[in-house]
Amino acid sequence: MVCIRPATLEDLMQMQRCNLLCLPENYQLKYYFYHILSWPQLLYVAEDYDGAIVGYVLAKMEEEPTDGIHGHITSLAVARSHRKQGIASRLMTATHKAMEEVFCAEYVSLHVRVSNRGAIHLYTNTLGYGVQDVESKYYANGEDAYEMRKYFAGGAKRRSGRGSSTGGAARRGGAAAGASDAGGGEATAAGSGSGAKEPAAKAAATAGVS
Ligand SMILES: CC(C)(COP(=O)(O)OP(=O)(O)OC[C@H]1O[C@@H](n2cnc3c(N)ncnc32)[C@H](O)[C@@H]1OP(=O)(O)O)[C@@H](O)C(=O)NCCC(=O)NCCS
Repeated sequence: MVCIRPATLEDLMQMQRCNLLCLPENYQLKYYFYHILSWPQLLYVAEDYDGAIVGYVLAKMEEEPTDGIHGHITSLAVARSHRKQGIASRLMTATHKAMEEVFCAEYVSLHVRVSNRGAIHLYTNTLGYGVQDVESKYYANGEDAYEMRKYFAGGAKRRSGRGSSTGGAARRGGAAAGASDAGGGEATAAGSGSGAKEPAAKAAATAGVS
């Protein structure tokens, strides 16, 4: 029996371990800390009956949005032994809900390797993402990425009424989450930042653990 629950500080090392086992894009532990200290509502784990973390979603809000308030999925993985049981779908749905309800996000974005058919099926067919763009040579090995987006149901309404009230709500969510300039600075040091800076982040993050 696998339970989906918000991540805690104690989960971070197991999340990192799961990431190392599942993906070539890896991150220093401080990058996990930066996420959980800034946006604790957006990190979820899948915990097995014996306490093992068998999946996680690491997500954030875009800190300097030029195109509407939105979240970003930094990383998602489920242990090989637990795949195709709906765990990734549940993790993603939980973080989507928090992005919308806590931060008033209009949409969520992510990057995925163009060859990652399983993840693309999950994002497109199960979760309702669409391809927004193709980013050439996004990954360290030269592979292209799809930039994908999912617009939330309330997003269109908020887009048309975007203004002080929406921004205020988003800021309140950020303040409650403890988001700060210091957090952003640390992220940059750890090799991340806005979605636009993600290619550098991928390379730096990968280098950080090798
Ligand atoms: C991609 C990944 C997160 C999916 O996790 P999961 O828990 O198996 O996904 P789910 O069980 O929620 O599956 C959701 C849907 O995707 C489909 N799916 C999952 N893996 C698939 C695969 N390898 N090939 C085809 N379809 C796949 C499921 O059949 C299901 O489809 P349905 O809703 O039509 O029934 C997991 O395979 C993984 O961790 N892969 C390695 C890391 C990775 O690629 N992360 C994403 C980086 S962008």
